[in-house]
Amino acid sequence: MTTPTTPTSPTPATTPAPAPAPAAAPAFLPLPAPFYQRGPVTLYCGDSLQILMALPPGSADALLADPPYSSGGAFRGDRMQTTRAKYAQQGAAHDLGDFSGDSRDQRGYLAWSTLWLTAATHILTPGALVGVFADWRQLPVTTDALQAAGLVYRGIAAWLKNNGRPCLGRFASQAEYIPWGTNGPRDATAGNCPRGWCEAPASAEIGGAPPIADRVHLTQKPLPIMEWLCSPVAEGATILDPFSGSGTTLLAAIRTGHRALGVEIDPRNCEAIAKRIDAELDQKRLQFDL
Ligand SMILES: C[S@@+](CC[C@H](N)C(=O)[O-])C[C@H]1O[C@@H](n2cnc3c(N)ncnc32)[C@H](O)[C@@H]1O
Repeated sequence: MTTPTTPTSPTPATTPAPAPAPAAAPAFLPLPAPFYQRGPVTLYCGDSLQILMALPPGSADALLADPPYSSGGAFRGDRMQTTRAKYAQQGAAHDLGDFSGDSRDQRGYLAWSTLWLTAATHILTPGALVGVFADWRQLPVTTDALQAAGLVYRGIAAWLKNNGRPCLGRFASQAEYIPWGTNGPRDATAGNCPRGWCEAPASAEIGGAPPIADRVHLTQKPLPIMEWLCSPVAEGATILDPFSGSGTTLLAAIRTGHRALGVEIDPRNCEAIAKRIDAELDQKRLQFDL
């Protein structure tokens, strides 16, 4: 009977070559031409899920998203109404159009949010800051989606709107929330150190949302809120907004010294964004020429 011998690994004759660096993961879909591109701003017109799956890894250094909440009502019947019926304030003098994607139930909203956040994570640089708007109803599913997408959930910032109706025997709903996280570890030794909340009325007061007559979108966010949210991001970095609406985030990003990457599904909104950004960049050029 022969005793089995333990195989020994052969001594390498030379030092093995280092393993090749892993190739950057390819994008999943072909990327269409931008709808608008000028200076620090690039805008794609289309479904954000598809565009995010087409953009190359490393396209953005931060994500600030204001998706259609699919909320705006206590009961399912309320939520199924048009966005105009749900969100238009009394006295809206002009026809701010409806927008799509606002009628998912909560399970659908969680699944969809997980999908687009996962696709967005694929194109974010390591350590990228991520903030997603939510009202009180969608807050729990939004924090679930952040984590399901593989992001590190780190806290909740708040926009104090001060516009909620006072209700006898109840707390008024006077805030919206920005649950936030990071794409893995984030350098905590650099950058600004903003407060975790910001106050700006949702109505037409100073520093709040624009007067309804000046709005180009039903749920246009106040510029100071978006500038506050851009403030922890390093200057020169690219901020992504996959649901750009009227382009408030893109405008805030360039006003705070960043580059901006937007996606919006409605071509009418894309036109409005292009006009807003053109006006800003024309103004900047004028200032520079002077
Ligand atoms: C809440 S609004 C954003 C408002 C924006 N923050 C502003 O200040 O104007 C959400 C936007 O997402 C757009 N949208 C809805 N579904 C989308 C999708 N699948 N891909 C890209 N944009 C989408 C809507 O047309 C709408 O303009």
